[in-house]
Amino acid sequence: MFRSTITTRLYTKEETIPYHLLLLADETLEAIDRYIHKSDCYVFEQEGKILGIYALFRIDNDHVEIKNIAVLEAFQGKGIGTLLIRDAIQKAKDEQYKTILIGTANTAFQQLYLYQKEGFEMDHIKKNFFIDNYPKPIYEKGILLNHMIMLKKALV
Ligand code: COA
Repeated sequence: MFRSTITTRLYTKEETIPYHLLLLADETLEAIDRYIHKSDCYVFEQEGKILGIYALFRIDNDHVEIKNIAVLEAFQGKGIGTLLIRDAIQKAKDEQYKTILIGTANTAFQQLYLYQKEGFEMDHIKKNFFIDNYPKPIYEKGILLNHMIMLKKALV
């Protein structure tokens, strides 16, 4: 179990984008490519293997968004995701942002739990985000993935 802290490092723009991980959190390469080149990615590694990643996207001087967060499937449920969220919050504070946001699907109950547990509050809904931005309807747990729920946390 990973229960204290983890060290992440900035993933350089020269390194190969780890789409296999990012695709755990997003449905299509096209969707990932809309933000990944404009984001700072931080990775958590063990023995040279990337176990977790998140992408921080600057919205403006005050607001930053976690656009993607993912943990390798075999390592999920061990506390890494929680520590990645905390690391992202700390990085955002270090960079003087006032607010950090994260969006997740209406069907993503585990993620909604995790983000609220780490102090994010539901803020607004991007209605029909997944209908409008993805090529075909996606169902998860028998529910149509349609709205993006945006959560935010004040940093000051
Ligand atoms: N079902 C229900 N709850 C679960 C769960 C599961 N399969 N796996 C973990 N949890 C709970 C844990 O119990 C924990 O709560 P606790 O601290 O009260 O015990 C909480 O969720 C966080 O668990 P943690 O181990 O820190 O998270 P993780 O390392 O699995 O990372 C994700 C969380 C979401 C990043 C990871 O599961 C993942 O990569 N999922 C696929 C990609 C994704 O959905 N990304 C987010 C897109 S918005």
